[in-house]
Amino acid sequence: MLTFDILTLFPGMFVGPTTESILKRAQQAGLIEARLHNIRDWATDRHRTADDAPYGGGAGMVMKAEPLAACIRAVAGAGAPPVILLSPDGEPFTQAIAHELSREERIVLVCGHYEGLDERVREALVTRELSIGDYVLTGGELAAMVVLDAVARLVPGVIDAESTAEESHSDGLLEYPHYTRPAVWEERPVPPVLVSGHHGEVAKWRRRERLRRTLARRPDLLARAHADGHLTREDLVYLADLGWGPG
Ligand SMILES: C[S@@+](CC[C@H](N)C(=O)[O-])C[C@H]1O[C@@H](n2cnc3c(N)ncnc32)[C@H](O)[C@@H]1O
Repeated sequence: MLTFDILTLFPGMFVGPTTESILKRAQQAGLIEARLHNIRDWATDRHRTADDAPYGGGAGMVMKAEPLAACIRAVAGAGAPPVILLSPDGEPFTQAIAHELSREERIVLVCGHYEGLDERVREALVTRELSIGDYVLTGGELAAMVVLDAVARLVPGVIDAESTAEESHSDGLLEYPHYTRPAVWEERPVPPVLVSGHHGEVAKWRRRERLRRTLARRPDLLARAHADGHLTREDLVYLADLGWGPG
C-alpha cells in the first residue's frame, strides 16, 4: 500500500483524477490511498489566511509559512516520509523517479499556488522538488496529479506488470506501435508480422520498432540507454544500419 498525502489549497481539484478509472480501482483494492489535506485548515486567524504579499514588493501573493509548515508537520508526522514540493524549478520528473517513488510507503506532495511558497518552508521542510516540465502552471495541483498517476500505476497490482515492462521510458526506449482489429482500416493493413503468429518474429519486430522510433523521435535517449546497458549487440547492429552509433 502506498499512501499519497496531498497538501493543497484546492482539494476540490482532485475530484475526477482520484475518483475515476484506475486510480479509483487501485484505492478500492487497497493498493494506494490518496488523502487530501486543505492547507487552509492550519491557518489560525479568523479569515483562514494562507497567503500574503511578497516582501520586497512585486506582483502576486506568496503562501505563508505558518499554516503550510503546520500542515506539513502534522501530516508528515514521525515517519519522515519524503516531502515533495511540485515546482517549476525542481528536478525534472522522470519515469525513473516514478519507479523510485512507487517503492515508498508514503509520499507527501505539496502543491504551491500563486507565486509559490515562502522560501523558508522549502529550506526547512521540503526534502525534494519535482517539476513536470519547462512551463508554468497556475498551481501544483495538476503537477501532483501527474506524479500521483505516474507513480500509482507502477505500484504492484495496480495494472498488469507486463504493460509497464516495455512501455516508453521504462528502459530508456520509446514504445513500439499498437494495432487492434480490424486487420485493414481505411486501406491501411496492420504490419503482416503481427498476424503471422510467430511470437519470436513479433518480439523482434517490436524491439526494432522501439529502436527506430526512439532514434526518430528522441535520439537523445539512445546514448543514455546505451550507457545504462539497455542496448544489446543486436540492437547496436540494427541501429548502425539506421546510421546511429554510440559515438
Ligand atoms: C504560478 S506557479 C509559481 C511559479 C514561480 N513564481 C516561478 O516563477 O517559478 C504556482 C505553483 O504551481 C506549481 N507549478 C507550476 N509549474 C509547475 C511545473 N512545471 N511543475 C511542477 N509544479 C509546477 C508550483 O507548485 C508553484 O508553486
